[in-house]
Amino acid sequence: MSRLRILFWAGALALLVACGPKAPKMPADAVALRSPDGKMELKFAVVDGVPEYSLDFAGKAVVLPSRLGYALLDRESLDGGFTLKGTAFDSFDETWEPVWGEEASIRNHYNELLVTLEQGTGVVRAAREGVAVTDPDYTGDLGNASGKGAVMQVRFRLYDDGLGFRYEFPQENALTYFKVEEELTEFAMTGDHTAWWIPGDYDTQEYNYTESRLSGIRSRNESMRLGNASAEGFSSTGVQTALQMKTAEGLYVNIHEAEVVDYPTTNLLLDDKAFVFRTWLTPDAEGVKGRLQAPCKSPWRIVMVCEKATDVLASRLILNLNEPCALEDVSWIHPVKYMGVWWEMITGKSEWSYTYDYPSVQLGVTDYAASKPHGRHGANNENVRKYIDFAAENGFDALLIEGWNEGWEDWFGHQKDAVFDFVTPYPDFDLPALNDYAHSQGIRLVMHHETSSSTVNYERHMEEAYQLMNQYGYDAVKSGYVGNIIPYGEHHYSQPLINHYLYAIREAAKHHIMVNAHEAVRPTGLCRTWPNLIGNEAAMGNEYRAGIDPGHTTVLPFTRLQGGPMDYTPGIFETDMSVTAPGQTGKMRHTLCNQLGLYVTFYSPLQMAADLPENYARFMDAFQFIRDVAVDWDKSVYLEAEPGAYIVTARHPRMSTLDSGRLSGHSSVWEFVHPDGREHDVWYVGGVTDENAREVSVKFGFLPSGVSYEAVVYADAPDADFETNPQAYTITRQTVTSGTVLPLRMARSGGFAISLRSL
Ligand code: NOJ
Ligand code: CA
Repeated sequence: MSRLRILFWAGALALLVACGPKAPKMPADAVALRSPDGKMELKFAVVDGVPEYSLDFAGKAVVLPSRLGYALLDRESLDGGFTLKGTAFDSFDETWEPVWGEEASIRNHYNELLVTLEQGTGVVRAAREGVAVTDPDYTGDLGNASGKGAVMQVRFRLYDDGLGFRYEFPQENALTYFKVEEELTEFAMTGDHTAWWIPGDYDTQEYNYTESRLSGIRSRNESMRLGNASAEGFSSTGVQTALQMKTAEGLYVNIHEAEVVDYPTTNLLLDDKAFVFRTWLTPDAEGVKGRLQAPCKSPWRIVMVCEKATDVLASRLILNLNEPCALEDVSWIHPVKYMGVWWEMITGKSEWSYTYDYPSVQLGVTDYAASKPHGRHGANNENVRKYIDFAAENGFDALLIEGWNEGWEDWFGHQKDAVFDFVTPYPDFDLPALNDYAHSQGIRLVMHHETSSSTVNYERHMEEAYQLMNQYGYDAVKSGYVGNIIPYGEHHYSQPLINHYLYAIREAAKHHIMVNAHEAVRPTGLCRTWPNLIGNEAAMGNEYRAGIDPGHTTVLPFTRLQGGPMDYTPGIFETDMSVTAPGQTGKMRHTLCNQLGLYVTFYSPLQMAADLPENYARFMDAFQFIRDVAVDWDKSVYLEAEPGAYIVTARHPRMSTLDSGRLSGHSSVWEFVHPDGREHDVWYVGGVTDENAREVSVKFGFLPSGVSYEAVVYADAPDADFETNPQAYTITRQTVTSGTVLPLRMARSGGFAISLRSL
């Protein structure tokens, strides 16, 4: 090659490198919307008939031009041929008070853009595409018959901390009934971000989080899969929402959804060459990904954008995008601190079942009275009374009892339609007497409804089951959906199931019952509308014991907890399973102080002390923190955080709800406030870390200035370590003020907790 030629090619290459690949841009005439603080900008345009949006933060792209639309099964798809028919701008600013929450009031402040799109009629599209779209059997609303095209609207709400948008299909439409093949919403990322993700699945979120670049998802996706009772993935680049990411510039970007009602839940499918996510809805038993009837709306699609990790924890975007409370009377809804006849079954110390006589049992047929009890049944009268006494002595509100009802001998693995009737106790569980005894001690019993995923059977018995609860004074139920769903072929996150979970919540509300659903779909902020949904599992909780990775709990508040509280069941002091349940093996991977820290770093108005009374009895001085800590707050301050690394949070209790759920008025927090008859102000601080030991400096600037507080500090001992010395802790007392900076060391997978009382 001649020198000149070499120079020419080198120059051309340099120019190419300098320019980089051409970043796609929205057209110059795109419609624009800014967030209230002006930092975020949304753009919308119809490009060659396809609706597209983009999102910038501080002048830099966060979401590159990304398409919107639907592929439909029974009519022409909503994937092109659109013209923009109208735009409407609005703004909104209100402050509302949640029934329970992380703070007393929440500001809902956004600017809005509603775009109305109309698709060319079928005839027009047929000509354009050279195909006939008219279905000879169709007598309805294909669009070409009426001469009108389908109308699709997209409503964008731009907040200071992110974007929400949803599709709306108005009544006056050429589109009435339609079946979704796929929602085509894209989220085009700007690079190979770091992500904290769990594998995409139609049935479970009970996974450890993996931290990797987007390009690293494919190679690790399959290996992250667990042998869950019901699980179905769909792609090695499929992940679930909420998906927390961090850009190379340090921006925290989170994709989630809000208000999933009468619509399947979405996963995200990643194109890992272009770093573009697309919605991937959960199919129903016939493979349909949504059966819609106008007027209707999709759930909100959310892109949260924050400069600091602590701002993600402080974001109320998902709650704000849900409807206000649907209940007029909420006086019966209250926070619950509870224990359970539960961990002993989870660990194998005892069992849910009553007898080994029957390998197969049938509802209403099996005669339990004639069977020989195996002697390992946890929910027996004597044992339950012991728990009631311990819970009462330590100021709890409630006690969960699992395995109280007939059917557990043969509840799982055969996809049986009718396993439980939710009303028939085992012979050694005296339901009226135990409730009477519990109530006399100031404790309410929490009902357990394991549905074994037979939603048809649950719906058949639901009214009677809730009536039984009302009759005996239960006001909270833990429901569960273990195993594959009946109706056969449905998934935990398909549209019929989404409708079932909400039906159970609404029916419960009629009976003044609070719901904590396990294995149900991850929450999407519906607790704002239905505050009797006080808990969900929908993630990997402590019941996975040795299976939980250190650091898991430092990711959950960024992801799963964004949609609503989690019944993580913290407070496991004894990490060695052979101590809790002789003959069992395995060690959990956290320190005792890590578990204390969770009561503050995790928000839930339903909070369990999950370990056995005898395990707490060995550490009563540390257990004091669980006795003292509140579970509902009027102020939360996120002091320091990084997903997958650590979280430090301070919270101030909501005094009005401290006693609201208690039957006898005894409350350990109240004692803490009134030890000498005077009223004290109280705060709690908690910290947790991942597999790395970490030093933090707790700055008490959140305290009112000029007031001194007595701090009780529960910290990992210097030689604590989750593997070698998990139960080593120190408890120290000192005076702090708003100017105090307290250095603390968290052991590997450790943490700390602080109670503060004004002097
Ligand atoms: C799974 C739930 O998550 C767990 O808490 C419960 O004990 C079992 N199912 C039995 O219902
Ligand atoms: Ca579970």
